[in-house]
Amino acid sequence: SPRPTSVSFSVKAQSVALSQDDLKKLAAEKAVESIKPGMVLGLGTGSTAAFAVDQIGKLLSSGQLHDIVGIPTSKRTEDQARSLGIPLVALDTHPRIDLAIDGADEVDPNLDLVKGRGGALLREKMVEAVAERFIVVADDTKLVKGLGGSGLAMPVEVVQFCWKFNLVRLRDLFREFGCEAKLRVGEGGEAYVTDNSNFIIDLYFKEPLKDGFAAGREIGKFEGVVEHGLFLGMATSVIIAGKNGVEVMNK
Ligand code: 5RP
Repeated sequence: SPRPTSVSFSVKAQSVALSQDDLKKLAAEKAVESIKPGMVLGLGTGSTAAFAVDQIGKLLSSGQLHDIVGIPTSKRTEDQARSLGIPLVALDTHPRIDLAIDGADEVDPNLDLVKGRGGALLREKMVEAVAERFIVVADDTKLVKGLGGSGLAMPVEVVQFCWKFNLVRLRDLFREFGCEAKLRVGEGGEAYVTDNSNFIIDLYFKEPLKDGFAAGREIGKFEGVVEHGLFLGMATSVIIAGKNGVEVMNK
């Protein structure tokens, strides 16, 4: 797939040490600068996306932004947006989205992503797939050379029915990458249940996937798999904040 076509450095981070949260906020607020009145927005999920939602709320309440509506990608984001007075709509009535802003778990050099460690991958993919622009916001710990290369989870949302059957099929599919598959467990020690009443199977790879598109296609062939966390060819820009500043990469 094509490499990003332009790279720019926009905001210089201050010389004082910035925390990871400061970096997430910098990236998120840079993305919010792209919002214009009249837009239908996709509102992402996770700690970085939450900074963007906060900023949208602030701009609305100060009158610097108006006439926007948002489509939240999780119940968490819906609650946050409501508490900030952001008007919400649904894909059913607003099937065209001007701009979606969301975080990511891994970003590779082609701006392909792993998402869903926050458990919201299905709604995120539905919203972000129809967004005219999809800006990913992250701190620089999310950059990887190859997807699956962080050693952290690559999530797959599955129906609850016979989830073990799919766990074994997924693990076996990626045996050559040293894949381990685990049912995601929530804070109470019970299986984690998504906003859509499904389970999540987290895949851990010992080495990065060679071909994310082929991997996504193969995962999608399993009946009972609802969605996977490979977001390929979807991001139009990625904004990465690191200690040297904010970098904007455009597709
Ligand atoms: C949620 C996601 C998040 O965007 C992703 O997990 C990144 O989260 P954070 O900004 O908290 O690191 O995909 O399903």
